Amino acid sequence: MVNVDRMGELLKQAYPVMPVLVVEDPDHGIPLATALVSGGLPVLEVTLRTDRAFEVIEKMLQVPGAIVGAGTVTSPDQLSRLGQMGAHFAVSPGSTPAMLAAGKASSIPLLPAVATASEIMLGLEYGYSCFKLFPAAVAGGVAALKAFAGPFSAIRFCPTGGIDQNNGADYLALDNVTCVGGSWVAPKRLIASQDWAAIEQLAEEARMLIAKP
Ligand code: 3PG
Repeated sequence: MVNVDRMGELLKQAYPVMPVLVVEDPDHGIPLATALVSGGLPVLEVTLRTDRAFEVIEKMLQVPGAIVGAGTVTSPDQLSRLGQMGAHFAVSPGSTPAMLAAGKASSIPLLPAVATASEIMLGLEYGYSCFKLFPAAVAGGVAALKAFAGPFSAIRFCPTGGIDQNNGADYLALDNVTCVGGSWVAPKRLIASQDWAAIEQLAEEARMLIAKP
């Protein structure tokens, strides 16, 4: 229920791009989130792929206007920790019965990922209507999303994986795509060199290049 009501709204706020972030140093959290919010991309997915990702999320939650969630959430325990610390949402790279059930009971909305019709059907059984398509390019990209629109016309997607400024507009042109996810707006090398101005510019460019006029 939480997912049905709140995740759809959250994905609209993420339009056109939800940055997918891999951040090693918690001290980078505030300036990175500030740059992305200033660049017009307020909904941020911080992957739990680094040792200090939870600390990064805590820092980013202090940034006005930032809507901060965790990505690479693979267990109900992680989801519950995120809810306790006040994260705004969570994204999982797949859909298991345990994760779908935990997401439904969670205080924060979960965006589960799918790559097949069977996974969409499993998510539907749990009441979900919004999914990440992952890995989008490998799972069939634009063609797969067009095909899913037939049997699953009410479902909305945030495709992620292999999307950038060159192909993002093709995804966003589809009625069943609310936003896309991507790491290209905050590349590791710019985070490492703390070039926040360049990241803000990439965010602005992403909005200009791929958003609908
Ligand atoms: C993810 O974690 O969702 C994807 O790995 C991000 O994919 P990208 O690096 O191709 O944008």
